Amino acid sequence: MKLLLSAILLYTISPTKSQWSFPDDFKFGVATAAYQIEGGWNADGKGVNVWDHLTHTNPNFTIDNSNGDIACDSYHKWQEDVQMLKNLGVDFYRFSLSWTRILPQGFASEINTAGVQYYNNLIDELIANGIEPCVTLFHWDSPQMFSSFGGYYNPVFVDLFANYARIAFKLFGDRVKTWITFNEPKVVCQDYNEFMGLVNEVYPNGVIEYLCTHDLLKAHAEAYHIYDNEFRAQQNGKVGITLNFEWSEPASVKSEDVEAAEQRRQFEFGLFASPIVYGNYPEVVIKRVAHRSKREGFPHSRLPKFTLTEQLKLKGTYDFIGLNHYNSWLVKASPEQPFGEPSYDKDVGTERFVDPSWEDTEWDGKIAPFGLQNSLKWIKATYKNSLILITENGYPDKTGTLEDNRRINFLRQYLNATLQAIHQDQVNVKAYTVWSLMDNFEWAQGFTVKFGLYNVDFTTNERTRTAKKSVEYYRSVIKDRVV
Ligand code: NOJ
Repeated sequence: MKLLLSAILLYTISPTKSQWSFPDDFKFGVATAAYQIEGGWNADGKGVNVWDHLTHTNPNFTIDNSNGDIACDSYHKWQEDVQMLKNLGVDFYRFSLSWTRILPQGFASEINTAGVQYYNNLIDELIANGIEPCVTLFHWDSPQMFSSFGGYYNPVFVDLFANYARIAFKLFGDRVKTWITFNEPKVVCQDYNEFMGLVNEVYPNGVIEYLCTHDLLKAHAEAYHIYDNEFRAQQNGKVGITLNFEWSEPASVKSEDVEAAEQRRQFEFGLFASPIVYGNYPEVVIKRVAHRSKREGFPHSRLPKFTLTEQLKLKGTYDFIGLNHYNSWLVKASPEQPFGEPSYDKDVGTERFVDPSWEDTEWDGKIAPFGLQNSLKWIKATYKNSLILITENGYPDKTGTLEDNRRINFLRQYLNATLQAIHQDQVNVKAYTVWSLMDNFEWAQGFTVKFGLYNVDFTTNERTRTAKKSVEYYRSVIKDRVV
């Protein structure tokens, strides 16, 4: 009897391995992006993109003076990559297309057949090995050519992206059934000046960021409708967008802090999700930016307005919401933001900091898995129980060690948070993706920050890959469906 009681007690207080498992229709994957892994920067007719240009003209841009000219050399080593994926046992592989490998100038006029062949080979090899391709159209490597006319903040970007999307659907949509239009558009627009190298002049982020946001949203909607009208009937796939979301937890139970946390979520995630789901920016964003713009003497709000036609066109342009989640913050109200200097940060009008009890990763961010569960719950509640795919989550270290116990520990906790969201909160989340398959070019951090399940030796041009301990761990999760 005593034994039975303690067994019952143990079962009720601790969710054990056997208590929760991933449902049969839940899928596991890993992710990469073209510029971060492919290399072959000018191979076989590829055109120059903003990252080629930025790193070549300003080598100090990355902290180790590196660039993605060779990266992981996946342009040549794609077969080996597929074998690594097979070894992991993943259901899908999320990778991105390099726009200028397919369209060297970015325009629809000339298609680079060698580039198309590269992706055909990769896609066919994935399918032959039982791995679904999940393709991101735009993972930051926009055609350099566009900088001559202002890139994302020239509305012509919408048509250029739409043409590129149509070409990709036509070329690969018979085999690719999951499409992501944009990866983290918030980052693209926020870091527009210093990071993306599209324009030389410096504009305040409170102006340019919203123009960029506006155009990327329209470009997304355009691509979604192209898929709907021209391809869906034959191809029967899904189109969504991937948004980054760092969880904002109220710093206290005070109503102003609760409100501040919600405000930050709306400025970060809602800025993109709300137009796509409901057809317009979140109320709080519209109101706050209008109010601040007026006080700063702007003739109208710095946040552009969608026409009614545009709103109707945007509304409902998603089959799923992709979530990239890495980090969490405590947020408190900070109403005293001076007027006069347009700035996104001042528009948000909150302060954020971290809880000292949260464990550090080895780079940017803390380990706070409750933030993933809360993000999933919030998306469910705010966006009509949408289908969610976790399109990125992962652990950065600086060494690339093969004994990556800290990564395993991180993955276990975040996978467990996903399980809790599924079983406790009934969130409609159907995929989890580790960033990343292998160590790669981490943008401004060059090769100094490593997220890979596989180590890549960047000291020789062989770019040799070696499995880390986390490969074993993730493989067992996928196979046994428990953490
Ligand atoms: C998000 C981005 O999509 C990816 O390119 C980047 O490497 C990871 N986060 C890690 O910072």
